[in-house]
Amino acid sequence: MKFANNILLIFVLFSSTLLLFSCKKEESNSIIAINSSEKIKIDSSEQYKEPFRPQFHFSPEKKWMNDPNGMVYYKGIYHLFYQYYPDDIVWGPMHWGHATSTDLIHWTNKKIALFPDKLGMIFSGSAVVDLKNTSGLGTKENPPMIAIFTYHDMAGEKAGRTDYQTQGLAYSLDEGETWLKYEKNPIVKNSGIKDFRDPKVFWNTETNIWNMVLVAGDHAQFYTSENLINWKFESEFGKNIGAHGGVWECPDVFKLKVNGSNEEKWVLLISINPGAPNGGSGTQYFIGDFDGKSFKTNQKEIKWIDNGADNYAGVTYNNTPDGKRIFIGWMSNWLYARNTPTKNWRSAMTLPRELSLEKINNDYVLKNSLVESFNKQSVSEFSKDMFAIKPKQKISFTYDHLNQSEVRFKSASKSLKLVFYNEVNDSLVLNYDAPQKTFSIDRRKSGIVNFEENFGKNIHKTATPNIVSETIDYQIILDWSSIEIFLNEGVYSFTEQIFPKKPYTKMSIQSDEKQEIKNLTIHKIKGIW
Ligand code: FRU
Repeated sequence: MKFANNILLIFVLFSSTLLLFSCKKEESNSIIAINSSEKIKIDSSEQYKEPFRPQFHFSPEKKWMNDPNGMVYYKGIYHLFYQYYPDDIVWGPMHWGHATSTDLIHWTNKKIALFPDKLGMIFSGSAVVDLKNTSGLGTKENPPMIAIFTYHDMAGEKAGRTDYQTQGLAYSLDEGETWLKYEKNPIVKNSGIKDFRDPKVFWNTETNIWNMVLVAGDHAQFYTSENLINWKFESEFGKNIGAHGGVWECPDVFKLKVNGSNEEKWVLLISINPGAPNGGSGTQYFIGDFDGKSFKTNQKEIKWIDNGADNYAGVTYNNTPDGKRIFIGWMSNWLYARNTPTKNWRSAMTLPRELSLEKINNDYVLKNSLVESFNKQSVSEFSKDMFAIKPKQKISFTYDHLNQSEVRFKSASKSLKLVFYNEVNDSLVLNYDAPQKTFSIDRRKSGIVNFEENFGKNIHKTATPNIVSETIDYQIILDWSSIEIFLNEGVYSFTEQIFPKKPYTKMSIQSDEKQEIKNLTIHKIKGIW
C-alpha cells in the first residue's frame, strides 16, 4: 500500500446490517476517508463560482454558448471561437465568441469576434491561417487568419424561403484580435437546400488545395478552392449511409495514422440532431478514404465518437504545431440545452481530447483521450497500488473534492459498479456489465433532473464489444456539473451533464465477483478561473 502525502487515511470497518437478518456470511464493507489540506471555495455570488459552474472546463463568462467554432492554432496560441448569444442564457442571434489558450486548459476570454450583419446571424464554421496569402486578403509577411462560417438569414427563413443559409468569410490581420467581413459575401450561395451549413475548411497537404466540407440536410458536400473565396463543388456523401434520425450538422474530415502500423485512414465526423443513441444530439463518424474530392467508405455500422448524452457539434483544430488531432465538443444536448439549471451562463465545452485510430476486432475505432497538458492540473491526493474487493463487498471513499476530481484505476474486465453520491441521496451510477458487455450511466437520481422530461428519463446503456483487454482502465473526470468517462484510454468515452443538489463527496466501488482494483488514484483538479 502506498499513500500520497497529506493523506489522512481512516479505515472504518463495519459489518453490513444485512448480517443481522441473514445467516449468509456477508463480506464487510469499508469506508476510506481522504482528507485534503486545502478547501475549494465556491461562492454563488462571484463570477465563475456560481453553483454548477465548471472549474476547469471552458465556459463563457456569461450568457449562452453552443458549438465550438473556428478552432485554429497560430503562433503559440490555440483559438477557440464559439456560438454565442451575448444577451440571454438561451439561444438567440448568433455571434462568434472568442477565447485563447496556450495549453488548451487555461483560457483567456477575448472580445466577441463576429457579430450578425445584414446577411444574417453567424452560425458555425471554421478558421484557417492563409499562410501563402492565397486569398490576397493579407500579405505573405502577415498572413490573414480566415474564418468561414454560415450566414443564417432569419428574415429569409420567416418568409418561407429555402436558401437562407449561405457561407460567408471574415478575415483578421492581427492574429484573430479583430475581424473584417469580406465585402463580397456570401462566398458560397445556396441553391435551395434548407439546412446548408457549418463549413469546415482546411489546407489539404496531399493535393495542395483548400478543402471544404459542409452539410446539406441529409448529406455532406465536399468543395475545393485555390483561394478560399471561389469554391468548386466536387462531390457529396452520406444520403444512404449512417444515422439519419435528424439533420446532419458540423462536419469535419481529417486523416489519422492507425496506431501500431503505417496505415492511414480518413475520418469524417458528422453531428446529428436528433437521432443519437441516448436521444437528441450526438456525433457519428465514418472511417474511409478521401482523395481531396470525394469521401468513400466500406463502413456498414453506425459509430459514435462519444456514447454519453452530452458531447455534440465537436470538431478538431486546424494547424496544430505537432500534427496532433485535437477535438473539442459542446457539452450539451439540444433536447434540454435551454433548460439546464444554471444562472448567468449556459453550458461548457468538453475537455480537449486527442483523437487516434486503433484497429480492434478487425475494425477501426476512433479513440479520444485527454490532451497531455491536462495532467498538470491535477494535485495528487490519494493513491493505492492494489486492493481486493470481495463479492458483494462495497468499498466507499469520502472526499470533499470529488466533484472536482479525476478518479483513475484499473480493474479486471469483470462487472463493476461505481456510485458517486452525497448526503442528500443524489447518486450517479456507472455500471460495467461483463456478461452483457455493456456500460451504463444512470443519472436518473443524480440530482436536479426535472428541468426537462428527457434528462433523467432513461439509463444510458452502450454495448462495448471493443473492450477486448483483460483489464479495463477507468479514467473519470468530474467538474461540478459534468462527468467524462474514458475506458481504455478512450476506446469508449462517455460525457454527461449532472446537477447534484449538493456536491458528490462519496464514491463506492462494488462488484458481484472477486475483483482486484489496481493503481487507484484520486486527484483534485485545480481550477482555471
Ligand atoms: C449545431 C448547430 C449548427 C448551427 C449552430 C447554430 O448545434 O445547430 O448546425 O450552425 O448550431 O447555433
